[in-house]
Amino acid sequence: MALYSEKVMDHFRNPRNVGVIEDADAVGEVGNAKCGDIMKMYMKIDDGIITDVKFETFGCGSAIASSSMATELIKGKPLTEAMQLTNKAVTEALDGLPAHKIHCSVLAEEAIKSALEDYENRKKQ
Ligand code: FES
Repeated sequence: MALYSEKVMDHFRNPRNVGVIEDADAVGEVGNAKCGDIMKMYMKIDDGIITDVKFETFGCGSAIASSSMATELIKGKPLTEAMQLTNKAVTEALDGLPAHKIHCSVLAEEAIKSALEDYENRKKQ
């Protein structure tokens, strides 16, 4: 069996939603101290819906594929749904990741949560 599923390879080679949203309503940034990979997530939010989402990932192929898939899973979705997105759902949507690459999908979940936290903090100001 190939180490990486076709979906992982597809999202790694043609990542969706790569880039920066200059006037984002929320920005989240997370990193993994062990591997040194960094993920940044930008969101436009309108009336509780994530209308646009982009990411920049300085990291491994699995992290790129995970962030690409994660953005696809939350784009156009309500904040409440995005809040509940787990790394398991991202991994499943990618048809699996090797065990030692699961933390890459955790990074995607954390980046989304970090952006949503930023959004909540901005609302308080
Ligand atoms: Fe650390 Fe992939 S090796 S995010």
